[in-house]
Amino acid sequence: MTREAESRETRVVDAKFVAGAVDAQSLPPPTVVEIAFAGRSNVGKSSLLNAMMQRLALARTSRTPGCTRQINIFEVRCADGLTLRFVDLPGYGWARRSKTERSEWQGMIEGYLQGRAGLRAVVVLLDVRRGVEDEEKQLVEFLAGPRHVSGPARLEVVLVATKVDKLGAASRKPALDKVGRSAKEVGGKVIGFSAVTGEGREELWARIRAVV
Ligand code: GTP
Ligand code: MG
Repeated sequence: MTREAESRETRVVDAKFVAGAVDAQSLPPPTVVEIAFAGRSNVGKSSLLNAMMQRLALARTSRTPGCTRQINIFEVRCADGLTLRFVDLPGYGWARRSKTERSEWQGMIEGYLQGRAGLRAVVVLLDVRRGVEDEEKQLVEFLAGPRHVSGPARLEVVLVATKVDKLGAASRKPALDKVGRSAKEVGGKVIGFSAVTGEGREELWARIRAVV
């Protein structure tokens, strides 16, 4: 694929917020293919979405973990007409929250992931400096488990290592190699990404387009 073809395909001509809800039942009907973005609080899900959608602040971001508190759906249309929904999920693993709140949280996210018709793939984000930890392994295992809706038997999982711009030139390759090795154990290749420089954006778009 030429560079021009790539940028035409991934140029976003329209992006808008569609709906937000704290339970999957309150979401609009799943009439458009959805790709969800999951990972720890503060890993950079909302920032990555803004970079993917070429919008500076459509999804709210914050330096404080726990910023996204509901399931937020955005709809994007590319220059070649492809339309899909990006779903920004609240982060998990945020300790400063009561036990009840955390289990409600988990119920909301798991309910959406297992029960949402129209969901095709889940992009699992991890911080390049932390790599694949237990939480990410558990999430990938969960995604490989049974679903409560008809549709494709298995959700596609795409692993993304975020904030690669935070690493200097010397530590970057070893860190990405290390993340790559641990990603292999959970079954996939990892894409390095930076919401600051836009690195990895085209590659992630290509993976998503291959899925839909
Ligand atoms: P929750 O909604 O709390 O789950 O967090 P989130 O995963 O949506 O993270 P968010 O996008 O709000 O980003 C958290 C912080 O990390 C913000 O201060 C962002 O500016 C910063 N950040 C996100 N992505 C990057 C990146 O690629 N590079 C750098 N340097 N900072 C980033
Ligand atoms: Mg967020």
